[in-house]
Amino acid sequence: MADMGIKTKYGAAVVTIALITLIALILSLANHQTLNLPYSTQYGIVLDAGSTHTALFLYQWLGNKENETGIISQKLSCDVEGGGISSYDQNPPAAGESLKKCLDVAKAAIPEGQWKATPAYLGATAGMRLLGLQNQSLADRILEEVAKTIQSYPFDFRGARIIDDKEEGAFGWITINYLLESFVKHTFEGFWIHPKAGKIVGALDLGGASTQISFTPKDLVKDSNSTSNFTLYGYKYEVYTHSYLCYGMDQALKKLQAYLNKTAGASSAISHPCYPKGYIVNVTLAELYNSPCVEKPINFNPNDKVTFSGTGNSSLCLSSIENIINLTDCALSPDCGFNGVYQPPVNGEFFAFSSYFHIFSFLGLAPKAQLTQVLSTIETHCDKNWTTLTAENPSIDAKYLKDYCASAHYIMTILLKGYKFNNSWDQISFEKRVADVDIGWTLGYMLNLTNMIPSERPRAVTGVVHSQWAAQTFFIVFALFLSLLIIVILVFIT
Ligand SMILES: *[C@@H]1O[C@H](CO)[C@@H](O)[C@H](O)[C@H]1NC(C)=O
Ligand SMILES: *[C@@H]1O[C@H](CO)[C@@H](O)[C@H](O)[C@H]1NC(C)=O
Ligand SMILES: *[C@@H]1O[C@H](CO)[C@@H](O)[C@H](O)[C@H]1NC(C)=O
Ligand SMILES: *[C@@H]1O[C@H](CO)[C@@H](O)[C@H](O)[C@H]1NC(C)=O
Repeated sequence: MADMGIKTKYGAAVVTIALITLIALILSLANHQTLNLPYSTQYGIVLDAGSTHTALFLYQWLGNKENETGIISQKLSCDVEGGGISSYDQNPPAAGESLKKCLDVAKAAIPEGQWKATPAYLGATAGMRLLGLQNQSLADRILEEVAKTIQSYPFDFRGARIIDDKEEGAFGWITINYLLESFVKHTFEGFWIHPKAGKIVGALDLGGASTQISFTPKDLVKDSNSTSNFTLYGYKYEVYTHSYLCYGMDQALKKLQAYLNKTAGASSAISHPCYPKGYIVNVTLAELYNSPCVEKPINFNPNDKVTFSGTGNSSLCLSSIENIINLTDCALSPDCGFNGVYQPPVNGEFFAFSSYFHIFSFLGLAPKAQLTQVLSTIETHCDKNWTTLTAENPSIDAKYLKDYCASAHYIMTILLKGYKFNNSWDQISFEKRVADVDIGWTLGYMLNLTNMIPSERPRAVTGVVHSQWAAQTFFIVFALFLSLLIIVILVFIT
């Protein structure tokens, strides 16, 4: 009896010690976890304030440090209702107000505990650049209003600004190559490797007010004003990038109308070879000349109206469009883009996104089609009259449907005659997303501003954190097993 009592007391002591050790271990692990957040989800918000509309992108990734490269995915995107923020020139506070719905959507998608740690950026592009040219104080006022709105949310607001045109092209290039893992690849074993340099892809972006081309040329760039040099993950890249202000899709269509009006002389009834036969629209001169991209006559009555009537003439449409672009050689001929801009010969594969993708996707030509097929598809489309077109596309707004012929010819003109892809057409893919992330400048912008692309070569650090975690888990399981063993021995042996 006495013997048994001692054994029980002895056994109880051992079990208690084992349990305390176990609890202490679990506590230390939990504590460790909250301090270092080894694999917690991080979030980042970027608002793309374009010329025609604003979109919010919410990104997420795993990591405990901002600059530790993780695999970034897009949690959601949200299209802000209404026009671009530059269209609120009469009522700047409403520009801020317009963002609230999407900011609420983002807030609901992020766990409350992470709100304060979520960086939020707004970048405005060519639409605001143009407004800034017309009235800088008005552009500043709109940015103040949108900043005020974003600041009223619990995020880590890091500024609302107009990103410069060269950055816009470079960030698009970074976004694509990051998503394609062209800079580094994270292997299964936890190592970083540098894929073949030939994998780097060029970027073609077409917005409403401007268009950008960015790529790594074969030879050194002759004009340092159009290069950006980056050191990413320990490797140097020389990127040629140019942004053509006023050559985005909407501004090009405006220039086309103004050009047709000019060549029609005094007549107010104007044939529009790119509009489908049967489509008629009235435009006031105030609307026609409301952009700094369009050349105005010295004297005009803003209330006067002109009438554009579609004639659906594909070849005349193409030749009219060639008149809104200056295809004369530049000073560094033959290395030229258009409008006298220097550009080295295009090199490697390219991804064409934003409006390039939308137009080509509508025509059934994305992601790739033979050049002859592209040309014949555009011609067939331009030949369709308005009745046929609207009957075939009941879900597409007339505001967009009327312009596909002109847009398609415009795209072909800048790609073939501007950038000179005539011998490398097959190198272009028309894409919207890579790895389920929308392509644009926003991700590259966030990566840059959060230092998530290190300029130094990454060490194989991810594996260490992971193995520490594994060791601790193993230790706990082992301790648990040991305690069970002791209990079993005490209960059954004694
Ligand atoms: C710029 O905008 C502000 C605010 O709307 C207005 O008061 C000012 O007259 C404008 N300036 C010019 C030069 O149009
Ligand atoms: C076209 O560009 C060339 C070279 O930059 C320039 O000399 C010429 O004046 C431009 N033509 C027009 C019509 O703008
Ligand atoms: C990225 O950010 C750094 C500063 O952190 C800046 O020097 C660099 O020019 C940026 N990259 C681009 C493409 O603008
Ligand atoms: C990460 O950021 C820290 C400080 O923010 C900096 O000291 C470190 O050099 C960065 N590491 C890399 C690889 O960029």
